[in-house]
Amino acid sequence: MKCILVKREDAESIRRELISLNLLDNEYGPAAALEGIYFPVRDKFKDFKLVEVSLKKRTPRVFSLEESLRDKLTPEELEYVVKSFDVIGDIAIIEIPKELVKKEKLIANSLLMVHRNIRSVYKKLGPMEGVYRTRKLKFLAGEKRTVTEYKENGCRFRLDVAKVYFTPRLSFERKRIAEQVKPGENILALFAGVGPFPVVIAKMQSHVKIHAVELNPHAFRHMQENIRLNRMQEMITPILGDVKDVIPKKFVNSADRILMPLPKGAEKFLGEAFLAAKRNGIIHFYQFASEKNPFEDVEKLVISEARLSGRKAEVIGKRIVRPFAPGVVQVVVDFRVR
Ligand SMILES: C[S@@+](CC[C@H](N)C(=O)[O-])C[C@H]1O[C@@H](n2cnc3c(N)ncnc32)[C@H](O)[C@@H]1O
Repeated sequence: MKCILVKREDAESIRRELISLNLLDNEYGPAAALEGIYFPVRDKFKDFKLVEVSLKKRTPRVFSLEESLRDKLTPEELEYVVKSFDVIGDIAIIEIPKELVKKEKLIANSLLMVHRNIRSVYKKLGPMEGVYRTRKLKFLAGEKRTVTEYKENGCRFRLDVAKVYFTPRLSFERKRIAEQVKPGENILALFAGVGPFPVVIAKMQSHVKIHAVELNPHAFRHMQENIRLNRMQEMITPILGDVKDVIPKKFVNSADRILMPLPKGAEKFLGEAFLAAKRNGIIHFYQFASEKNPFEDVEKLVISEARLSGRKAEVIGKRIVRPFAPGVVQVVVDFRVR
């Protein structure tokens, strides 16, 4: 590599001059030596002697996943990959379609290289399933661990992505609910997971009492840990158990607000929710629904279940929370119980 040797004290000004004359060869980095700094040059510069030095090639800096994979994937594959991963703390969880399986390690390594905050990459092996709503994962690259710490709405959450349900895609929804809470409310956070709804509510409204019910012992233990981590022991009481058993035993006619974030199956627990709701209490009820007609069936369901429980439900809000699958969205219907 052609270089010029420059005294240390002149190095910065000469570097600038070389750049302005387009003579600095950026493919290689300069090298420091006892006698001065060697700059790689494209051509002769003033009366500096040209010397041959072997220099290291710079590794080109990659700024985005698109850039790093552009020459390895088709534009369609690339568009898919860019949209198909979630980052929870420092763990990326990516969806790899069958056609891209051969390139999964390459994609995972690119994620690690581009996103310095990502330390581990796992691939989804299927949908969320079972009562605990967890999914199987396959390790692809980085550190082989599934416990991480995630930050949201000024709160910290420790969780094991392989053993509990968690999605960062509900962060706006958690904030939306927390903003509606009034001081003094008694809240029942059902299907509480590792505690994101109760912890975000308690962060934004400190004069509340929240009971958070969860069936998965791993999620329950993380919820206990997260309550401590965010210093919310005074406000949140975690309960390990089944909503079907816990409500009739402890919470009849007790709640001003009830959260039901179990979009696949919450309808089976509406009877318990009506049992727990005080008059004028509010229920936030989550469901999966068709994108074409997202609210009609959910509203009908809520109203008829209320009637069966001898109550009345008045819908006071509804929104699409997030797209879930092609043609399917997650919705929330907020209703007041009379
Ligand atoms: C979709 S996840 C939601 C978790 C949490 N609210 C969140 O947003 O991350 C539903 C949770 O309900 C829990 N669950 C399912 N059936 C339950 C039941 N009968 N009683 C209590 N918890 C239950 C699951 O273990 C899971 O953690």
